[in-house]
Amino acid sequence: MLDHQHTTNQKIHFLKQKYTSCQSCKELCESRSQVVFGSGNLNAEILFIGEAPGANEDKNGIPFCGASGQILQDLLQSINYDRNQIFITNTVLCKPPKNRNPKANEIKACNERLNQTIQAINPKIIVTIGNFATKAITKTKVGITKIRGKPIETTINNSSYTIVPVVHPANLLYNGRNPVIFQQMKDDFNIIKKIINKKTKHQK
Ligand code: URA
Repeated sequence: MLDHQHTTNQKIHFLKQKYTSCQSCKELCESRSQVVFGSGNLNAEILFIGEAPGANEDKNGIPFCGASGQILQDLLQSINYDRNQIFITNTVLCKPPKNRNPKANEIKACNERLNQTIQAINPKIIVTIGNFATKAITKTKVGITKIRGKPIETTINNSSYTIVPVVHPANLLYNGRNPVIFQQMKDDFNIIKKIINKKTKHQK
């Protein structure tokens, strides 16, 4: 195993152990059946950050394993990627009660863990899925429909990263799988692909 992979492995293992019994958020501790740390390729070029686990994720311990996950899979496939090549985590690691949005204090409590995960994976590109992840990472106040597919450079723990915000797949479901929205989402994934290709050519 490469040295870099070895340390990534150790860092992720350490973080997983550390947060698996996290008790920071009372309501989330009561509502979760497990902490959904994240899953995928530790050597990933792309790190995806969603909002929070839903019921399926809470049951299976894997992010995006329900209907939204299927859409994510289709979008990845549209740029010739699959889940084995990426790493996915969420803005908060525990399922909120009754599928509510994560609260500001919960996002804050999970922020150090998120930054440490980013640092451990050290991806070429971070894709923030939906408003909550985009705001948590870029601190923007602009809504996702305005900044989707527009790359943003951000510094996290003294390292700079390219962020691409995308619309949350749940949004497509709320909109009855509107083909116009789906096409926009595919266009945004093409932007991700182009950035990766460019970075691979010049190396990070
Ligand atoms: N939606 C999210 O934001 N994250 C998941 O893990 C599943 C659905």
